[in-house]
Amino acid sequence: MSVDLPLSVVVLAAGQGTRMKSRLPKVLHTIAGKPLLEHVIEDALRLEAADIHVVFGHGGAQVREALAAYDLQWVEQKEQRGTGHAVEQALPAIPDNHLVLLLYGDVPLITVPTLQRLIAAAQGDALALLTAELADPSGYGRIVRDAAGRVQCIVEQKDATEDQLAIHEINTGMLAVKADRLKQWIARLDDNNAQGEFYLTDIVGFAVADGVTVNTVYPDEQCEIEGVNNKRQLAELERAFQWRQARQLMEEGLTLRDPARFDLRGTLSIGQDVIIDCNVLIEGEVALGDEVYIGPNTVLKNVHIDAGTRVHTNCVLEDSVVGKRCEIGPYARLRPQSELADRVKVGNFVEIKKSQIATGSKVNHLSYVGDTTMGANVNVGAGTITCNYDGVYKHQTVIGDNVFIGSDTQLVAPVTVAEGATIGAGSTITRDVPAETLTLSRAQQVTVEEWQRPKKADER
Ligand code: UD1
Ligand code: CA
Repeated sequence: MSVDLPLSVVVLAAGQGTRMKSRLPKVLHTIAGKPLLEHVIEDALRLEAADIHVVFGHGGAQVREALAAYDLQWVEQKEQRGTGHAVEQALPAIPDNHLVLLLYGDVPLITVPTLQRLIAAAQGDALALLTAELADPSGYGRIVRDAAGRVQCIVEQKDATEDQLAIHEINTGMLAVKADRLKQWIARLDDNNAQGEFYLTDIVGFAVADGVTVNTVYPDEQCEIEGVNNKRQLAELERAFQWRQARQLMEEGLTLRDPARFDLRGTLSIGQDVIIDCNVLIEGEVALGDEVYIGPNTVLKNVHIDAGTRVHTNCVLEDSVVGKRCEIGPYARLRPQSELADRVKVGNFVEIKKSQIATGSKVNHLSYVGDTTMGANVNVGAGTITCNYDGVYKHQTVIGDNVFIGSDTQLVAPVTVAEGATIGAGSTITRDVPAETLTLSRAQQVTVEEWQRPKKADER
């Protein structure tokens, strides 16, 4: 058994990404809401790398800013003179006794288990290459083996002979090797090739010449080694990543009505017998308790929903907490800091913002409840509005337990409706309402008996 060496990860991210046709540096385009480069950095962190070196070029300041939360060694490659030259920029900062793992900022779906196998294949002073068999190998460097199947060298597409072009085993670019070896070989690179670049891949020939074993490892899935160069590839890898997450959640017991129409941009934790209908988008950190149902076309962002709650079609819930056995929607919106206790009902075309609603209360139709503390078993009639904003300041509305609010009522905050009060339909409430009373503000109803509707001249 060999002792694991400390790990230095080098991530190449100097590519310009011209084919993305975007002002944003390529590695900052996102998959599942997270920059491509961040996916790779997170893998490196999971591998417990001692240090992570990011070789940047184009859009460097923007890239550094976007990843400021991570402890990274930033290395500038001023001129792009090939992958060998790029790696060279990071080497002075890496101790000789470290194992170097080379990753790419635009190859985001590589997995930790595959990289662990790659690292294992480099133990005992070997060079480990991640290679793959592709039906269409065009564009990639080819893995050239001898009759005994031992790797001899890598030849780039543009330098390859007819016979070499027929090889289907390709170089993914990812590799692992000891730093001292890498430093010796990189120092020997030249740019005498079809592209006039310092090819990192030439180190394989040097390794063979030095009698170093070259081991190869295959990824579990092809998407792990695929890079992003254009928007089509970005979309394809987005779907591949979403499918990977969906598969994982289904293994945990989630019922997904259509995994092809499910998007998770963050983390989702689930209880038992959770059902997510088609076309649901989940962002940030979301937790769904046992038997929660999420209806079609719903967006959930940073919400915790307790057991047995049903969120119907076309709802948007954000930064909120929802209790047990609530009914929400269809067409409901919970804005940040909404807290619903158990068995609360929030019906269609209802917006709740920064409000606490206690057990069993109902806001069933066409209402706005903002900056409100609502007690238990309150019934809010259709079209009720809390007027929380005076144009400058926000004000609180307080509604006690067992209040009944008639339809089309405006509660002009700051205002308190004490427990058990009833408010007549169509009221504009501007002063506090005492407990257990009936309050209404309404013009007298008038009937004009002898009244005629206006008529057009030719009808008279
Ligand atoms: C390289 C490999 C090739 C492999 C392919 C996999 C070499 C010489 N060839 O091809 O065998 O099949 O990757 O995709 O290594 N980069 C820099 N600085 C540079 C050059 C490249 O940071 O000066 C970065 C790019 O941003 C990109 C990565 O390295 O992320 C690979 O570069 P790219 O030009 O796409 O690959 P090739 O060199 O064509
Ligand atoms: Ca009215």
